Amino acid sequence: MNTHTTLHIADFATDAARTILDLGRTAIIERGLFRLGLAGGDTPRIVYAAMAEGGADFPWAKTQITFGDERCVPPEDKDSNYRMARESLLSAAPIAQGNVFRMHGEIDPAAAAAEYEAKLAAVAMRCGEARYVHDVLLLGLGPDGHTASLFPGSPALDESTRNVIPVIGPKPPPQRLTMTFPLINAARRVIFLVKDAGKAQVVAEVQAGDPRHPASRVTSATWLLGF
Ligand code: 6PG
Repeated sequence: MNTHTTLHIADFATDAARTILDLGRTAIIERGLFRLGLAGGDTPRIVYAAMAEGGADFPWAKTQITFGDERCVPPEDKDSNYRMARESLLSAAPIAQGNVFRMHGEIDPAAAAAEYEAKLAAVAMRCGEARYVHDVLLLGLGPDGHTASLFPGSPALDESTRNVIPVIGPKPPPQRLTMTFPLINAARRVIFLVKDAGKAQVVAEVQAGDPRHPASRVTSATWLLGF
């Protein structure tokens, strides 16, 4: 049984940013670190900018950043999710470089996935976890019900062991790296960021557990909807 909490937020960027930062402060109080996974695509850009703007006093030094997925392009490429996050948040938030876990989209995808897997495993081991546990993992939703780079019909949907794998997807650019559902569902809190009212139907179908949609495999989530 999946559990979903839906919040229709008036000022999408500001309200989402505030929600994320409040959860981060709680994580730092409780565990001394805020492990935040960033979503890719276009929607999150304004939320990240609002986090940078509203987070002047946020303890960024105690924040660790991961990426739910990445396109296999260099970090300065216009399609890079890292570039979008750097421009909107990371260039403004004083997060230690060693705490920004960039997926290396510019190298061989299998090698990049293995490298990322090892990075997450090292932290998980230090924390006594079977696999890395995000405090908050942000996700987007595609019109076909995909999330991260987990697309309909992909064998990646059934990955049960690895946390990060290379995939080929229908959304350009096709070659990508993605977190898998075991890692996604290990998060303390998954937050879907959906601003486009045109996605209202697919949101409802995912929340109803429609098996056509990969995002239906997220077992528990908070939905921040801008409509
Ligand atoms: C990506 C994203 C992808 C995105 C959705 C929604 O790298 O493309 O991870 O899952 O979140 O496609 O994208 P928009 O926010 O641009 O609609």
